[in-house]
Amino acid sequence: MTALSKAFNIADMQALAARALPLPIREYLEGGADDEWTLARNRAVFGEWVLAQRTLVDVGTIDTGADMLGFRSAMPLMLSPTGMSQLFHAAGELAVARAAAQAGVPYGLSTMATTSIEAIAATGANRYFQLYLFRDRGLTRALLERAAAQGYGALCLTVDTAMAGNRERDLRSGMIMPPRFTLGSLLSFAAHPRWSLGALKNRSFRLANIVEHVGDIASGGTSVIDYVNEQFDRTATWQDVEWLRRQWPGKLVIKGAIMPGDCREAVARGADAIMVSNHGGRQLDTAGAPLDYLPAIRDRIGDAAQLIVDGGVRRGTDVLKAIALGANGCSIGRPYLYGLAAGGEAGVARVLSIFRSEIERDMGLMGRTRLSDITPADIDHLSDFRSKPGQVHTRRSNPLP
Ligand code: FNR
Repeated sequence: MTALSKAFNIADMQALAARALPLPIREYLEGGADDEWTLARNRAVFGEWVLAQRTLVDVGTIDTGADMLGFRSAMPLMLSPTGMSQLFHAAGELAVARAAAQAGVPYGLSTMATTSIEAIAATGANRYFQLYLFRDRGLTRALLERAAAQGYGALCLTVDTAMAGNRERDLRSGMIMPPRFTLGSLLSFAAHPRWSLGALKNRSFRLANIVEHVGDIASGGTSVIDYVNEQFDRTATWQDVEWLRRQWPGKLVIKGAIMPGDCREAVARGADAIMVSNHGGRQLDTAGAPLDYLPAIRDRIGDAAQLIVDGGVRRGTDVLKAIALGANGCSIGRPYLYGLAAGGEAGVARVLSIFRSEIERDMGLMGRTRLSDITPADIDHLSDFRSKPGQVHTRRSNPLP
């Protein structure tokens, strides 16, 4: 048995990734903002809901297929954009996109990726491009044009990064720009020779989509990152979303709206989908988790846009709970990066196959054969469950006895 095949769930894969990565890289991957309350909340909230288990239903054929941002997806799951994936494995974003294509799920390429828009397009994966709004609208427009020319089906604007989040793990390990590694961090690089040699040999590490545009303004990785950070437009408002809507003819996704009112605004400005997200707990600490707001968001916007839950999703049951509460599906960040760190493309493939089999098995055990059959009647909040045992479903119409 290879190490990857002994990863039976995402927590196992996380443990493999922890072994593969030097401390500063691991901390950068795992970390959240401030006290990491929101990071923990994203996970804990799933434990506050119980799924209905219906038996003796014919589940001979189960269809996990879903529409995600307009793409036909093999399951109601997609991959969130994450910057600088070559930090976790030299094969970086290419490996992730290839595994996504193989598994039939959409992949989101980050503005801060270490692989170009064009190279990802060549993998043939169903792909969307994640954009940060830059002060330099010329740079923004250049990125849009490249994504459109390369057949990216959706554009995803991240809106929860008006300021950089306070990631204290990175301050402690020295994973800042420019790096100021502590002795402990340096020793950890030495203790992970496979990662360190891979990084040393990797000559293609750069912010591949920015460097080409700003190459003449700033040269070398560090100064490009400084340039990019200075470029995040803190003055952006909903008017800028309208501007973007006019620039981009395809599907428009807003990532990082979480309050029902903001989601309503997103729909009013022309968003086709919302990734309900707090950036994996990396931005505003003590912000709520996507599931805390999801039912209210769905109530507020009706069917006007897709809702994708992003943050803390680690199990098939998490995905099914989100769907029961009104989501169209979920998106994952760290889980596929664990796979990438543990085993490159094969590691990401393993993560996706774990999710696929969990979703299918859990649907069968819920007595549901299609995602469209999963409704609020399939879920209860623990508080109702404890206060009214045996009566939790009486308040809802329930299609099954
Ligand atoms: C991210 N995330 C992120 N989001 C984004 O819009 N653009 C980006 O470049 C990045 N970069 C990034 C790097 C790393 C290492 C992580 C862990 C996350 C956030 C990401 O898209 C997603 O919202 C979260 O990862 C979801 O939470 P989980 O699945 O990691 O719990």
